[in-house]
Formats: sequence, structure tokens, C-alpha cells
Amino acid sequence: MNSSSIFSQAIINSQVGFCVVDEHGKILLINNAFGRINPAKKIIGRHLSTVIKLGQGSVKKWISALHQERQAQIEVEFRDQKTPFFAIANASIIEEDGHQLVGIFFTESSAQKLLTNELERQVAIEIEKNRKKELMMQSQAKLATMGEMIANIAHQWRQPLNILALILQDNYIKFQLKQLTEEVVEKNYEKANNLLQYMSQTIDDFRSFFKNDESQEPFEIRQALQSIIELVGTRFATTRTKVIIPQAGDYWVYGTQNGFKQVIINLLNNAHEAILASKQSEGKIEVSIKQDNKYIHVYVADNGGGVPENIVEQIFEPYFTTKHQTQGTGLGLYMSKQIIEKNDNGKLEVSNGENGAIFCVALPKASAPH
Ligand SMILES: Nc1ncnc2c1ncn2[C@@H]1O[C@H](COP(=O)(O)OP(=O)(O)O)[C@@H](O)[C@H]1O
Ligand SMILES: [Mg+2]
Repeated sequence: MNSSSIFSQAIINSQVGFCVVDEHGKILLINNAFGRINPAKKIIGRHLSTVIKLGQGSVKKWISALHQERQAQIEVEFRDQKTPFFAIANASIIEEDGHQLVGIFFTESSAQKLLTNELERQVAIEIEKNRKKELMMQSQAKLATMGEMIANIAHQWRQPLNILALILQDNYIKFQLKQLTEEVVEKNYEKANNLLQYMSQTIDDFRSFFKNDESQEPFEIRQALQSIIELVGTRFATTRTKVIIPQAGDYWVYGTQNGFKQVIINLLNNAHEAILASKQSEGKIEVSIKQDNKYIHVYVADNGGGVPENIVEQIFEPYFTTKHQTQGTGLGLYMSKQIIEKNDNGKLEVSNGENGAIFCVALPKASAPH
């Protein structure tokens, strides 16, 4: 039995493409299958790089590296094909008459390659879709918070607007009765001016919440809570809802201060809405703070009855709301979770207490600046 003859016949007739190149990459021998991939007349004597290309790097370098590595496998693409033709090239060194030749088998992989390409394309499309959705949700959430901001401003303005109207009326009546003395004008002018300044300050205060500075910095929780209560506390008071915050202690955390304020406003608004919906006569929202080695935990507990067990898993999902279309967007808790957990490496969780929901915001502790 002549094994070389058997081997050579097997290779010549194999369905797998095969070629032999010299140490520079010049093609010396090809089998029938290789000839079928490249019907061009004259393949022998051409450089391998005129027939195939690599995904990365040059054919020449690959061949010369083979002399050290002895064998290698790489994905290649055949040139000048009507439809893309990919193959796995399996190369090994052949010693012949003191020359180092390279024998290469080519197993077609076009189908897998096309499939991978298609998969990659699909994944890219999905990622892009997701990114767009994320952007859209962000701007919707912004709109929702802007709506809340306008509601707050409108509330803060109602009283001063009434008083301004009264002052104007007072001026007019006194003028008609010829009682408009210099003193009255002075006094009314000063009152009106104070009111206008207060109104303008209200806008500034709310606007500073929506400045999009995302920078992380150490900030003190109790002070942040205090400024929130000054903004929204009176609105809650008109519906007999008390907001209680801790009166002592310094709690420094590391995070985005405006983000944190937005989250707390979201939680307070939700608590307030739950209290109103539960027809509770005396609403109470209690904010408390605890700390461990790593985190400061801020608890927002209300007496609005709590989150029903069957939806507790869903409330952080985007667009999940149990409120009427005109009231709820279902984005508040979703965005809050993003802010706390993605931006600030914290945690936002919910549980139910005796009288209502308890939301907990945990942020990494920071040392107080000196
Ligand atoms: N404090 C709370 N008490 C009871 N249920 C709550 C509370 N906070 C949130 N929820 C529930 O979680 C849902 C999602 O809240 P959120 O994401 O802020 O959206 P939205 O307020 O627009 O409905 C609410 O619709 C409500 O059912
Ligand atoms: Mg909400």
C-alpha cells in the first residue's frame, strides 16, 4: 500500500479546497475543489494574497509567522466571487527537499459568516432602537417633571397674585375717593415690589432644579431635603399633608445633588398622590435617615395605604402607572431608579410599612469637606 499516493488522491478529489504555497506565499499546487472556487485559468504561480484576503492583517505576514508557529487557523475571504465566499483556512508546514512549504485546507464558512454578520447587524439595530427609546423616555420624564414644576409655581403664585390684585384695587379706589396719599402709594409700591421679587425668586428656585448639571460631588442630605421642603411643602400643606424631615445631623453623600432632589420630589409627589387617593384625612410623609459603614439610607414613608403586593414588582418599570392618563406617566420611579442606581451607584427600593409605602434611597457615604 502506497500511503503517499492514497493521501494525494484523497486530497486531489476532496470537496475541501487545498493548496500548497512556498515560504513567500506563491501558489505551487492546488486541488480540484480549490480550482472550482477560483475558476480563473492561471492560479499556479500567483501570490496567495491575490486569491484570498484576511479579515485583519496581510496574507504575507500570516504565512511568514507560520514558520515559527508551524500551524494556524484563520478565517479568510476569497476574492473575485459573485457571492461572498468565506472559509476557515487551516495551514501547516510541510518539509520538502529542505524547503519549508505551507499546505492549506479551506473549509467553507460562508453560511455561518453571513449568519454572524446578520446577527451583528440585528443587534446593532436593536441597540440603536433602545438608545432612541431611552432618549425619548428621558425627555418624557423631563416633560412630566416640568409639568410638576409648573404646578408648583402656579401654586406658589396664587396667593401673591391675589394680593397684587388687591393692592391695585386699593390704589384705584383710594384714587377715586381722592384718598390716594403719597404715603399709601409708597406703602403699596413696597408691598407689590416684595411680592414680585418673591414670585421671581420662585421661578429661579425651580429652574435651578432643572439645570442639567450631572456632575457628582459630595453634598449634605439634610440640607438638600430642607430646600425641597421649602419648595413643595406649602402645596402639600393645603391638602392637610405634613412632611416631616430630620432636624439634626450631618449626612454627607457622594452623588448628583440635583438628581437626588428630583428623585425625592418624585417620591414625595407619589406619596402625596397615594395619600389623596386613600382619602386619608391627615396625611403624613416622614423622611428619616440612617447610616451604615458604606451608605446613607433616606427613607420616605407615607400613610397612603402602601403599594399593592401584586404590582410591587412592576412599579419601577417604564410606563407602569395605576393613575389616570392625565395624572400618571409611569416614568417617575423608572427615572428615579436610573438616576440613583446608574448615575450614582446607589440603590432605590420599596417596601410596605404599617400605614403605607416606604421608599428607601441609599447613596454612597462621603466624608464631610473641611
Ligand atoms: N407612595 C406610594 N404608595 C402607593 N403606591 C405608589 C407609591 N409610589 C408609587 N406608587 C405606585 O407606583 C406607580 C408608578 O409610580 P411612578 O413611576 O412615579 O409613576 P406615576 O406616578 O406617573 O404613576 C404608581 O402609579 C403607583 O401605583
Ligand atoms: Mg410619579
